Amino acid sequence: MRQYSVKANDVPAIIAEVARRGFGANVVSRGEWALARRAGVPDERITLEGVGKTPADLVAAARAAADGHPLRWVAVESPEEARALADAARRAGAPPLDVLYRLNPDVTPETQPGLAVGAGGSKFGMTETEIADAIEAGGGPNGPLRSRGLQVHVGSQLGAVDAWRDGARKAVALTALWRGSIETFDTVDLGGGMPIRPVGEPAPDPAHFARELPAILASVPEERRPSRVAIEPGRALVARAGWLVARVLHVRERGGRQVVLDAGMTELIRPALYGARHPIVALTSLGRAVDVGGTASAPGTPARVEGPVCESTDSLGDHDLPPLRRGDLVAIADAGAYATSLGSTYNGRPRPPQVLLETDGGLRLGRRRGTVASLA
Ligand SMILES: Cc1ncc(COP(=O)(O)O)c(C=O)c1O
Repeated sequence: MRQYSVKANDVPAIIAEVARRGFGANVVSRGEWALARRAGVPDERITLEGVGKTPADLVAAARAAADGHPLRWVAVESPEEARALADAARRAGAPPLDVLYRLNPDVTPETQPGLAVGAGGSKFGMTETEIADAIEAGGGPNGPLRSRGLQVHVGSQLGAVDAWRDGARKAVALTALWRGSIETFDTVDLGGGMPIRPVGEPAPDPAHFARELPAILASVPEERRPSRVAIEPGRALVARAGWLVARVLHVRERGGRQVVLDAGMTELIRPALYGARHPIVALTSLGRAVDVGGTASAPGTPARVEGPVCESTDSLGDHDLPPLRRGDLVAIADAGAYATSLGSTYNGRPRPPQVLLETDGGLRLGRRRGTVASLA
Protein backbone atom coordinates (compact mmCIF):
# COMPACT_ATOMS: atom_id res chain seq x y z
CA MET A 1 0.00 0.00 0.00
CA ARG A 2 1.24 3.45 -0.89
CA GLN A 3 0.01 6.50 0.98
CA TYR A 4 1.23 9.92 -0.15
CA SER A 5 2.23 12.06 2.83
CA VAL A 6 0.14 15.15 2.10
CA LYS A 7 2.17 17.37 4.45
CA ALA A 8 4.93 17.46 1.82
CA ASN A 9 2.72 19.37 -0.64
CA ASP A 10 -0.99 19.79 0.00
CA VAL A 11 -2.11 21.45 -3.24
CA PRO A 12 -5.14 19.35 -4.30
CA ALA A 13 -3.98 19.18 -7.94
CA ILE A 14 -0.68 17.65 -6.73
CA ILE A 15 -2.45 15.20 -4.43
CA ALA A 16 -4.67 14.22 -7.36
CA GLU A 17 -1.66 13.78 -9.65
CA VAL A 18 0.03 11.48 -7.11
CA ALA A 19 -3.26 9.61 -6.50
CA ARG A 20 -3.53 8.97 -10.26
CA ARG A 21 -0.28 7.03 -9.90
CA GLY A 22 -1.85 4.65 -7.40
CA PHE A 23 -1.28 6.41 -4.07
CA GLY A 24 -3.77 6.94 -1.28
CA ALA A 25 -3.34 9.94 1.03
CA ASN A 26 -1.76 10.07 4.48
CA VAL A 27 -3.08 13.12 6.40
CA VAL A 28 -2.48 14.60 9.85
CA SER A 29 -5.56 16.78 10.37
CA ARG A 30 -9.09 17.47 9.15
CA GLY A 31 -7.56 20.25 7.04
CA GLU A 32 -5.30 17.88 5.10
CA TRP A 33 -8.15 15.34 5.02
CA ALA A 34 -10.40 17.95 3.34
CA LEU A 35 -7.68 18.74 0.79
CA ALA A 36 -7.28 15.04 -0.02
CA ARG A 37 -11.05 14.74 -0.46
CA ARG A 38 -11.04 17.80 -2.69
CA ALA A 39 -8.38 16.05 -4.76
CA GLY A 40 -10.83 13.18 -5.23
CA VAL A 41 -9.23 10.64 -2.88
CA PRO A 42 -12.01 8.61 -1.18
CA ASP A 43 -11.97 8.03 2.60
CA GLU A 44 -11.26 4.32 2.12
CA ARG A 45 -7.82 5.33 0.73
CA ILE A 46 -7.05 8.00 3.35
CA THR A 47 -5.09 7.34 6.55
CA LEU A 48 -5.04 9.75 9.50
CA GLU A 49 -1.94 9.93 11.69
CA GLY A 50 0.20 12.49 13.49
CA VAL A 51 1.16 13.57 16.96
CA GLY A 52 -1.19 16.58 16.89
CA LYS A 53 -4.61 15.12 16.18
CA THR A 54 -7.32 17.17 17.91
CA PRO A 55 -10.44 15.80 19.63
CA ALA A 56 -12.41 17.13 16.63
CA ASP A 57 -10.15 15.13 14.26
CA LEU A 58 -10.91 11.95 16.23
CA VAL A 59 -14.66 12.66 16.31
CA ALA A 60 -14.61 13.27 12.53
CA ALA A 61 -12.88 9.90 11.98
CA ALA A 62 -15.49 8.17 14.17
CA ARG A 63 -18.37 9.92 12.36
CA ALA A 64 -17.02 8.98 8.94
CA ALA A 65 -17.05 5.32 10.03
CA ALA A 66 -20.57 5.66 11.48
CA ASP A 67 -21.71 7.21 8.18
CA GLY A 68 -20.41 4.22 6.24
CA HIS A 69 -17.20 5.67 4.76
CA PRO A 70 -14.44 4.82 7.25
CA LEU A 71 -10.86 5.95 6.80
CA ARG A 72 -8.42 3.22 5.82
CA TRP A 73 -6.98 3.54 9.33
CA VAL A 74 -6.13 5.96 12.11
CA ALA A 75 -2.59 5.70 13.52
CA VAL A 76 -2.74 6.18 17.28
CA GLU A 77 -0.02 8.09 19.17
CA SER A 78 -0.77 7.32 22.84
CA PRO A 79 -3.01 5.28 25.14
CA GLU A 80 -4.92 8.49 25.95
CA GLU A 81 -5.58 9.06 22.28
CA ALA A 82 -6.74 5.43 21.87
CA ARG A 83 -9.20 5.96 24.73
CA ALA A 84 -10.47 9.22 23.24
CA LEU A 85 -10.91 7.63 19.81
CA ALA A 86 -12.68 4.61 21.32
CA ASP A 87 -15.04 6.96 23.23
CA ALA A 88 -15.73 8.95 20.05
CA ALA A 89 -16.46 5.72 18.13
CA ARG A 90 -18.87 4.49 20.84
CA ARG A 91 -20.67 7.83 20.94
CA ALA A 92 -20.97 7.93 17.14
CA GLY A 93 -22.26 4.35 17.07
CA ALA A 94 -19.49 3.52 14.61
CA PRO A 95 -18.53 -0.01 13.57
CA PRO A 96 -15.00 -1.02 14.74
CA LEU A 97 -12.43 1.49 13.50
CA ASP A 98 -9.20 0.15 11.99
CA VAL A 99 -6.20 1.51 13.87
CA LEU A 100 -2.42 1.21 13.74
CA TYR A 101 -0.21 2.07 16.71
CA ARG A 102 2.78 4.29 16.07
CA LEU A 103 5.99 2.79 17.38
CA ASN A 104 8.86 5.00 18.47
CA PRO A 105 11.67 2.84 17.03
CA ASP A 106 14.42 4.38 19.17
CA VAL A 107 16.99 4.48 16.36
CA THR A 108 19.61 7.00 15.24
CA PRO A 109 18.41 8.28 11.86
CA GLU A 110 21.07 9.46 9.39
CA THR A 111 19.64 12.94 8.95
CA GLN A 112 19.57 16.42 10.48
CA PRO A 113 18.48 16.41 14.16
CA GLY A 114 15.34 18.36 13.19
CA LEU A 115 14.19 15.49 10.97
CA ALA A 116 15.25 12.58 13.21
CA VAL A 117 11.79 11.80 14.54
CA GLY A 118 12.59 8.13 15.23
CA ALA A 119 15.09 8.96 17.98
CA GLY A 120 14.19 7.53 21.39
CA GLY A 121 13.60 10.86 23.11
CA SER A 122 11.42 12.31 20.36
CA LYS A 123 7.75 13.18 20.83
CA PHE A 124 6.69 10.78 18.07
CA GLY A 125 5.21 7.34 18.67
CA MET A 126 5.02 4.95 21.60
CA THR A 127 7.21 2.50 23.46
CA GLU A 128 6.23 -1.15 23.36
CA THR A 129 4.65 -0.83 26.81
CA GLU A 130 2.63 2.20 25.73
CA ILE A 131 1.43 0.28 22.67
CA ALA A 132 0.19 -2.53 24.93
CA ASP A 133 -1.67 0.09 27.00
CA ALA A 134 -3.13 1.68 23.87
CA ILE A 135 -4.41 -1.68 22.61
CA GLU A 136 -6.05 -2.19 25.99
CA ALA A 137 -7.45 1.36 25.98
CA GLY A 138 -9.09 0.67 22.61
CA GLY A 139 -11.32 -1.87 24.30
CA GLY A 140 -9.54 -5.11 23.45
CA PRO A 141 -10.56 -7.62 20.74
CA ASN A 142 -14.28 -6.74 20.63
CA GLY A 143 -13.90 -3.05 21.41
CA PRO A 144 -14.55 -0.02 19.20
CA LEU A 145 -11.00 -0.05 17.82
CA ARG A 146 -9.84 -2.91 15.62
CA SER A 147 -6.06 -3.31 16.00
CA ARG A 148 -4.55 -3.74 12.53
CA GLY A 149 -0.84 -3.24 13.20
CA LEU A 150 2.00 -0.78 13.62
CA GLN A 151 3.20 2.41 11.98
CA VAL A 152 6.81 3.56 12.15
CA HIS A 153 8.56 6.54 10.57
CA VAL A 154 12.22 6.92 11.44
CA GLY A 155 12.88 10.32 9.90
CA SER A 156 13.02 12.35 6.73
CA GLN A 157 15.69 12.93 4.07
CA LEU A 158 17.56 9.79 5.23
CA GLY A 159 21.21 9.67 4.19
CA ALA A 160 21.42 5.86 4.56
CA VAL A 161 19.07 2.90 4.99
CA ASP A 162 20.49 1.58 8.29
CA ALA A 163 18.20 3.34 10.77
CA TRP A 164 15.22 2.69 8.49
CA ARG A 165 16.14 -1.02 8.38
CA ASP A 166 16.47 -1.11 12.19
CA GLY A 167 13.11 0.63 12.63
CA ALA A 168 11.39 -1.63 10.10
CA ARG A 169 12.87 -4.74 11.77
CA LYS A 170 11.58 -3.66 15.17
CA ALA A 171 8.13 -2.92 13.75
CA VAL A 172 7.92 -6.24 11.91
CA ALA A 173 9.12 -8.18 14.98
CA LEU A 174 6.58 -6.47 17.24
CA THR A 175 3.80 -6.95 14.70
CA ALA A 176 4.65 -10.67 14.63
CA LEU A 177 4.45 -10.79 18.41
CA TRP A 178 1.00 -9.18 18.52
CA ARG A 179 -0.21 -11.26 15.59
CA GLY A 180 0.08 -14.26 17.89
CA SER A 181 -2.73 -12.94 20.10
CA ILE A 182 -4.68 -10.52 17.86
CA GLU A 183 -5.83 -12.10 14.61
CA THR A 184 -6.46 -8.77 12.85
CA PHE A 185 -2.91 -7.49 13.53
CA ASP A 186 -1.81 -7.83 9.91
CA THR A 187 -0.31 -4.48 8.83
CA VAL A 188 3.00 -2.69 9.08
CA ASP A 189 3.37 0.87 7.79
CA LEU A 190 7.02 1.83 7.33
CA GLY A 191 6.45 5.56 6.90
CA GLY A 192 8.42 7.80 4.55
CA GLY A 193 11.94 9.18 4.69
CA MET A 194 13.25 8.44 1.21
CA PRO A 195 15.56 11.31 0.35
CA ILE A 196 16.19 13.40 -2.67
CA ARG A 197 19.84 13.27 -3.46
CA PRO A 198 21.63 16.47 -2.42
CA VAL A 199 23.90 17.74 -5.22
CA GLY A 200 27.24 15.92 -5.06
CA GLU A 201 26.31 13.81 -2.04
CA PRO A 202 25.46 10.11 -1.94
CA ALA A 203 21.96 9.11 -0.84
CA PRO A 204 19.95 5.89 -1.14
CA ASP A 205 17.25 5.75 -3.80
CA PRO A 206 13.81 4.14 -3.26
CA ALA A 207 15.00 0.83 -4.78
CA HIS A 208 17.64 0.67 -2.06
CA PHE A 209 14.95 0.72 0.63
CA ALA A 210 12.81 -1.80 -1.28
CA ARG A 211 15.72 -4.24 -1.51
CA GLU A 212 15.90 -4.41 2.31
CA LEU A 213 12.28 -5.49 2.70
CA PRO A 214 12.36 -9.24 1.84
CA ALA A 215 15.04 -9.94 4.49
CA ILE A 216 13.20 -7.85 7.07
CA LEU A 217 9.96 -9.79 6.48
CA ALA A 218 11.82 -13.10 6.41
CA SER A 219 13.19 -12.39 9.90
CA VAL A 220 9.85 -13.48 11.44
CA PRO A 221 7.99 -16.80 10.98
CA GLU A 222 5.80 -16.85 7.87
CA GLU A 223 2.52 -17.26 9.74
CA ARG A 224 3.33 -14.17 11.84
CA ARG A 225 4.38 -11.94 8.92
CA PRO A 226 2.26 -8.85 8.21
CA SER A 227 0.11 -9.48 5.15
CA ARG A 228 -0.10 -5.76 4.35
CA VAL A 229 2.98 -3.50 4.07
CA ALA A 230 2.50 0.23 3.58
CA ILE A 231 4.80 3.15 2.89
CA GLU A 232 3.98 6.85 3.13
CA PRO A 233 6.58 8.88 1.24
CA GLY A 234 6.29 12.62 0.70
CA ARG A 235 9.52 14.37 -0.28
CA ALA A 236 10.78 11.77 -2.76
CA LEU A 237 7.59 12.11 -4.81
CA VAL A 238 7.29 15.88 -5.09
CA ALA A 239 10.41 17.79 -3.97
CA ARG A 240 12.11 17.83 -7.36
CA ALA A 241 8.92 18.94 -9.11
CA GLY A 242 8.83 22.38 -7.48
CA TRP A 243 10.74 25.62 -8.08
CA LEU A 244 10.33 28.81 -6.11
CA VAL A 245 10.74 31.81 -8.40
CA ALA A 246 11.99 34.97 -6.69
CA ARG A 247 12.93 38.48 -7.73
CA VAL A 248 16.11 40.28 -6.71
CA LEU A 249 15.48 43.24 -4.40
CA HIS A 250 19.01 44.42 -3.51
CA VAL A 251 22.58 43.63 -4.53
CA ARG A 252 25.23 44.96 -2.16
CA GLU A 253 28.87 44.59 -1.17
CA ARG A 254 29.23 43.23 2.35
CA GLY A 255 32.77 41.85 2.28
CA GLY A 256 31.43 39.78 -0.62
CA ARG A 257 28.36 40.03 -2.81
CA GLN A 258 25.05 39.99 -0.96
CA VAL A 259 21.83 39.35 -2.90
CA VAL A 260 18.50 39.94 -1.16
CA LEU A 261 15.45 38.22 -2.72
CA ASP A 262 11.73 38.82 -2.36
CA ALA A 263 11.21 35.17 -1.26
CA GLY A 264 12.64 33.47 1.81
CA MET A 265 11.60 31.76 5.01
CA THR A 266 7.91 32.60 4.62
CA GLU A 267 7.82 30.56 1.39
CA LEU A 268 10.67 28.10 2.10
CA ILE A 269 11.62 27.82 5.77
CA ARG A 270 13.88 24.76 5.47
CA PRO A 271 17.19 26.69 5.23
CA ALA A 272 16.32 28.82 8.27
CA LEU A 273 14.82 25.90 10.20
CA TYR A 274 17.55 23.31 9.80
CA GLY A 275 20.17 24.65 7.44
CA ALA A 276 18.83 22.87 4.36
CA ARG A 277 20.55 23.77 1.08
CA HIS A 278 18.54 24.46 -2.04
CA PRO A 279 20.41 25.09 -5.31
CA ILE A 280 19.63 28.45 -6.94
CA VAL A 281 19.89 29.35 -10.63
CA ALA A 282 19.49 32.76 -12.23
CA LEU A 283 16.70 33.03 -14.79
CA THR A 284 17.77 36.54 -15.82
CA SER A 285 21.08 38.35 -15.47
CA LEU A 286 21.12 42.16 -15.71
CA GLY A 287 17.64 41.96 -17.24
CA ARG A 288 18.47 39.38 -19.94
CA ALA A 289 17.30 35.77 -19.99
CA VAL A 290 19.88 33.22 -18.90
CA ASP A 291 20.07 29.96 -20.82
CA VAL A 292 19.68 27.86 -17.65
CA GLY A 293 20.26 24.45 -19.20
CA GLY A 294 22.74 25.37 -21.89
CA THR A 295 26.33 26.38 -22.23
CA ALA A 296 25.47 30.05 -22.71
CA SER A 297 24.86 30.51 -18.95
CA ALA A 298 26.59 33.59 -17.60
CA PRO A 299 29.57 32.56 -15.42
CA GLY A 300 28.80 32.45 -11.71
CA THR A 301 30.64 34.16 -8.91
CA PRO A 302 29.96 33.74 -5.19
CA ALA A 303 27.01 35.49 -3.59
CA ARG A 304 25.42 35.27 -0.18
CA VAL A 305 21.67 34.92 -0.86
CA GLU A 306 19.30 36.34 1.74
CA GLY A 307 15.52 36.32 2.15
CA PRO A 308 13.36 39.41 2.70
CA VAL A 309 12.04 38.64 6.19
CA CYS A 310 13.04 40.59 9.31
CA GLU A 311 14.98 37.67 10.83
CA SER A 312 18.71 37.26 10.33
CA THR A 313 18.27 33.47 9.97
CA ASP A 314 16.27 34.12 6.79
CA SER A 315 19.18 33.19 4.54
CA LEU A 316 19.49 30.76 1.63
CA GLY A 317 23.27 30.40 1.92
CA ASP A 318 26.17 30.87 -0.52
CA HIS A 319 25.65 30.27 -4.23
CA ASP A 320 27.53 30.95 -7.47
CA LEU A 321 25.39 33.32 -9.52
CA PRO A 322 25.91 35.53 -12.57
CA PRO A 323 25.77 39.33 -12.34
CA LEU A 324 22.44 40.38 -10.86
CA ARG A 325 20.60 43.61 -10.31
CA ARG A 326 17.25 44.62 -8.84
CA GLY A 327 14.39 43.00 -10.77
CA ASP A 328 16.33 39.93 -11.97
CA LEU A 329 14.67 36.55 -11.47
CA VAL A 330 16.14 33.46 -9.82
CA ALA A 331 14.69 29.98 -9.29
CA ILE A 332 15.22 28.05 -6.05
CA ALA A 333 15.28 24.29 -6.65
CA ASP A 334 13.75 21.31 -4.84
CA ALA A 335 10.91 23.45 -3.51
CA GLY A 336 8.13 20.97 -4.30
CA ALA A 337 8.14 19.47 -0.77
CA TYR A 338 7.91 21.15 2.62
CA ALA A 339 8.01 24.60 1.04
CA THR A 340 4.66 26.34 0.81
CA SER A 341 2.99 23.63 2.92
CA LEU A 342 5.32 24.86 5.69
CA GLY A 343 4.87 28.50 4.68
CA SER A 344 3.59 31.37 6.75
CA THR A 345 2.33 34.91 6.34
CA TYR A 346 4.86 36.32 8.83
CA ASN A 347 5.69 39.99 8.24
CA GLY A 348 2.24 40.33 6.65
CA ARG A 349 3.32 38.56 3.49
CA PRO A 350 0.43 36.98 1.55
CA ARG A 351 1.14 33.48 0.28
CA PRO A 352 2.56 33.17 -3.25
CA PRO A 353 0.49 31.53 -5.99
CA GLN A 354 1.33 27.99 -7.06
CA VAL A 355 1.39 27.36 -10.77
CA LEU A 356 1.45 23.89 -12.27
CA LEU A 357 3.42 23.24 -15.42
CA GLU A 358 1.63 20.51 -17.38
CA THR A 359 3.56 17.94 -19.40
CA ASP A 360 2.24 19.59 -22.58
CA GLY A 361 3.75 22.92 -21.48
CA GLY A 362 0.44 24.42 -20.36
CA LEU A 363 0.16 26.36 -17.10
CA ARG A 364 -2.57 25.79 -14.51
CA LEU A 365 -3.25 27.62 -11.28
CA GLY A 366 -2.69 25.21 -8.38
CA ARG A 367 -3.36 27.69 -5.58
CA ARG A 368 -4.38 31.31 -5.83
CA ARG A 369 -2.09 34.11 -4.64
CA GLY A 370 -2.97 35.23 -1.10
CA THR A 371 -4.25 38.76 -0.67
CA VAL A 372 -3.44 41.53 1.78
CA ALA A 373 -7.16 41.68 2.62
CA SER A 374 -7.14 38.02 3.73
CA LEU A 375 -4.51 38.81 6.36
CA ALA A 376 -6.73 41.24 8.28
C1 LIG B 1 4.62 9.82 9.94
C2 LIG B 1 5.20 10.34 8.69
N1 LIG B 1 5.09 9.62 7.57
C3 LIG B 1 5.61 10.06 6.40
C4 LIG B 1 6.28 11.27 6.33
C5 LIG B 1 6.86 11.70 5.01
O1 LIG B 1 8.22 11.77 5.08
P1 LIG B 1 9.12 12.05 3.78
O2 LIG B 1 8.62 13.30 3.17
O3 LIG B 1 10.47 12.17 4.31
O4 LIG B 1 8.96 10.88 2.87
C6 LIG B 1 6.43 12.04 7.48
C7 LIG B 1 7.18 13.31 7.43
O5 LIG B 1 7.42 13.99 8.37
C8 LIG B 1 5.87 11.57 8.69
O6 LIG B 1 5.99 12.27 9.82
